[in-house]
Order: sequence, then structure tokens, then C-alpha cells
Amino acid sequence: MVKICCIGAGYVGGPTMAVIALKCPEITVSVVDISQSRISAWNSDHLPIYEPGLDDVVKKCRGKNLFFSTDVEKHVAEADIVFVSVNTPTKTQGLGAGKAADLTYWESAARMIADVSTSNKIVVEKSTVPVKTAEAIERILTHNRKGINFQILSNPEFLAEGTAIQDLFKPDRVLIGGRETPEGAKAIKALKDVYAHWVPVDRIICTNLWSAELSKLAANAFLAQRISSVNAMSAICEATGADVSEVSHSVGYDSRIGPKFLNASVGFGGSCFQKDILNLVYICECSGLPEVANYWKQVIKVNDYQKSRFVNRVVSSMFNTVSGKKIAILGFAFKKDTGDTRETPAIDVCKGLLGDKARLSIYDPQVSGDQILRDLSMKKFDWDHPVHLQPSSPNSIKQVSVVWDAYEATKDAHGICILTEWGEFKSLDFKKIYDSMQKPAFIFDGRNVVDVEKARKIGFIVYSIGKPL
Ligand code: NAD
Ligand code: UGA
Repeated sequence: MVKICCIGAGYVGGPTMAVIALKCPEITVSVVDISQSRISAWNSDHLPIYEPGLDDVVKKCRGKNLFFSTDVEKHVAEADIVFVSVNTPTKTQGLGAGKAADLTYWESAARMIADVSTSNKIVVEKSTVPVKTAEAIERILTHNRKGINFQILSNPEFLAEGTAIQDLFKPDRVLIGGRETPEGAKAIKALKDVYAHWVPVDRIICTNLWSAELSKLAANAFLAQRISSVNAMSAICEATGADVSEVSHSVGYDSRIGPKFLNASVGFGGSCFQKDILNLVYICECSGLPEVANYWKQVIKVNDYQKSRFVNRVVSSMFNTVSGKKIAILGFAFKKDTGDTRETPAIDVCKGLLGDKARLSIYDPQVSGDQILRDLSMKKFDWDHPVHLQPSSPNSIKQVSVVWDAYEATKDAHGICILTEWGEFKSLDFKKIYDSMQKPAFIFDGRNVVDVEKARKIGFIVYSIGKPL
């Protein structure tokens, strides 16, 4: 009988442990967190995160072999395998501020594991961490005075939000890194046995610790680089009359390149791409590799450029000012099928438009008004520190209103910015919307969801990313 405990009941810890519990009925899985409100939500009918299919999985296991608790120490002490899936944000102060990973939460979890453990344990890095973190953690754990054996494994998570459950059910691969010693090999096997309940063994890759840690940063850097590449192409398309969808399609047909992840957009968002690339850049700088650091930095620079290019397009095409004009913002989450707004491009676009004194009417089907106001008043990188996980009432912002319907958002608006590719935006009645708007009525489609020809026929002036004007 194996007992698993996961520290951190967030976007990764919650869904990952729920799927392990579902696929391994004989294993008891406890998910613990210091946030009382998060744990209460996991134990209620309104889970703290929106993720298609998650409700079903949780309902099937909760109370049987899946438990959510704030009694962190008890569950850690009882576990054979402890996953650590706490947040690893970008440092906001001190050495490496704005780049290096802040391992405060990780370190405090490791110290607690060392303090409360009375039996041998496998400690699994689930969070995304800098290369060599396992060595630091090992040092903290082995300094406990009780002679307990800890084996550290790196088992980074590759799920994407919005498709987390299907990614966990059918992962492209599971990666496990461990020490190349007999004890390390035993620990790797124990974790492999857990995943082998549902993942074909040829999809479980075992490596050394540092390769596993670096592979996670590398995978996110490659993925983000692909988006910056296609977004850079979108700027060339707009300048030349080429159509970025046609370019992506043609390029993606090359089997060496492949068709996925080539959608041009207003920019990538989400809690990890930027954070993990900054982390990689910092590692390069500390390793005396400034050329490599600059190479990866460029991926973020192009992303920032894409967001400001979008804002400039809106302002310049609306006769060089949006002051006092109502702009409808459709979509605030960083992608569809999630309520997550961490590093969403919508924050930068909205702040850019507010800087030009626009009035914003924002609608997103999954993001609360409080969250939107909090995001628009927060400082860069502050969002990933636990104090913000506690619900607090944000101040209102004079020029911003949050509404619960796309038609309400667009009524009397001068322009519409589509910032998330929610399915429902494709089936909006754009004729009805056009009739209710100020004229000329503009659409700035940051996700290429609008049928440009149809919208132009209705009378809209339409700007889409990477499309002929
Ligand atoms: P999250 O902020 O949603 O969850 C982290 C949780 O850890 C929070 O609920 C916080 O209260 C809790 N926590 C912090 N310190 C704690 C402590 N000492 N004891 C107990 N609980 C503590 O973060 P997340 O999105 O789940 O990401 C977690 C890690 O996984 C990060 O390193 C991230 O880079 C990585 N990751 C995230 C994703 C994703 O899609 N979100 C995917 C792959 C990897
Ligand atoms: C990403 C990775 O896809 C996961 O493998 C990884 O585990 C995770 O980061 C992580 O480490 O946190 P996620 O950020 O949840 O997952 O979502 P993605 O689907 O990767 O989208 C990221 C951003 O890129 C979104 O803003 C999305 O709209 C944008 N994107 C994505 C594009 O602009 N174009 C695309 O073609 C694809």
C-alpha cells in the first residue's frame, strides 16, 4: 500500500493527484495546501479551478482515496511519496529580481518535510525549478537529524491548462529523473510503477536529475519560441499582404516542423512560459553564457512587441486616440477553457489602452470581475505569491467595467478587442453587435476567431493578426 501526499493544491497539484487517485484505486492520495480557501473549494461543489472534465474525476475519487486537507504536516509524515507542487514564481526583489526563480515556497516545504518525517520518503519535484534545485533540496533534507533516507526525483509536469485532464490521461510522455545509484534507481521504479497504471511504459522516460530539470525548461522555451516565431511572421504578413494562417499551414505541412502550436495571436500568456524562460536566461547568465541568454530573451521581447503592436494598431486605426472611447474587451483569460488570468496578454493590452484613456467594458465567461480588477491593479510578477491566492476585494478602476455578456460589453462601443479564443465568440450575432455600436465600428481580432469577410460585409473595419488589411 503506497501513500502519496502532494504539497500544493493548485492547477498542477489538484488535477494531477485527482488523476493518480482515479487510475490507482489502491493508492491513498492526499493533497495539502496552506491556503484554507483553496482546500475548502476542493472539498466543495465549486472547485477552485475551471478545467473541463476535472469535476467528474474529483467526484469519482474524493472521500474514497482522494483527500484535500490543510493538515500539511500529518499527511506529509504519513506519506511514502511526497510530491511538491508549490508555486515557483519569478523573484521580485534582491539578487536575480525579475529573472531568477523564487524558491522560498519550495524551500519552506522541504524544511517542513525534513522536520516532520519519521520514515524514509521519495520526494518528487513536480514544480518547475532551476537546474540543480534537487541538489539544494537534498542538502536541506539530509541535514535532518533522524537518519531518514530521502530520495529526490524530478518529475516535471507537461499538462496545459484547459486540456489538463486529457493531457494527464494520455500524456505524450512522463519524465522521471533520479540519482544514478541503486537507491535512486529503486525510487525511479517506485514512481514509474505509479504512472504505469495507465501510461504505456515506452512513454515513461527516465533520465538523470539534471536532464529532467532542464528538459522542462527546454520544452517550455521551445513551445514559446514557436509562438514568437509565428507572431514575428504575422508582423511580416501585415506588412506584405501575406496571410499568416496560410503561411502557418504551409510551413506546418513539413513533417519536421508539424502543424501544432502555430497559431498567431496577440501574444502568449500563462503562468509559465515567461517565468520559465526568464529562469533559463538567469541560469545562462550565471553560467557565463550571455549569447545563449540573449537568444532566449528574444522570445520574450518578441512577445512583448506583439502585445504593444496590438495596442498601437488599435490606437492608430481609431484616429490616433481612444481617449474617452468605449472599447469592448472580449476574453480576459490567457487562453480558452480556463479561468486563469496569470500573465494573460489581456492585462498588458488593457493597461496599454487605459494608458491612452480608453473606457473598457470587459467580458470573459470564466473570469470574475474581482479577478480582472485585481489583475489590472497588480504589479508585474506579484501575482504568483500566495497572498494573492486569498480572495480580497480589489478597488474599482474608474475607466473599467466588467459585464457578464458580450452584447452588453459591445453596446455603444467604438471598437472590440478579442483577446481570448472562447468558442462562443465564433457564434456571436455580429450583425446585432454592429447595429448597437458607434460608427465606424472596429474589430481588432487578437485570436483570429472572426470570419473577416463576413464581418467586413456587415460594415465592420476589421484588423486580424497577420491578415491582409
Ligand atoms: P498554483 O499557484 O496554482 O499552486 C501552488 C499552490 O502551492 C498554492 O495553492 C499555494 O498556496 C501552495 N503552497 C505554496 N507554498 C506552500 C507550502 N509551503 N505548503 C503548502 N502549500 C503551499 O501553481 P501551479 O500553477 O499549480 O504551479 C505549480 C508548479 O507547477 C509551478 O512550479 C509551475 O511552474 C509548474 N507547472 C504549472 C503548470 C500549469 O499549467 N499551471 C504546468 C506545468 C508545471
Ligand atoms: C504550457 C505548455 O503547453 C505545457 O506543456 C506546460 O506544462 C505549461 O505551459 C506549464 O509549464 O505551465 P499552458 O500555458 O497551460 O501550457 O497553455 P498553452 O496551451 O501552452 O498556451 C500558452 C499560451 O500560448 C496561451 O496564451 C495561448 O493562447 C498561446 N498560444 C498557444 C498561442 O498564442 N498560439 C498557439 O499556437 C498556441
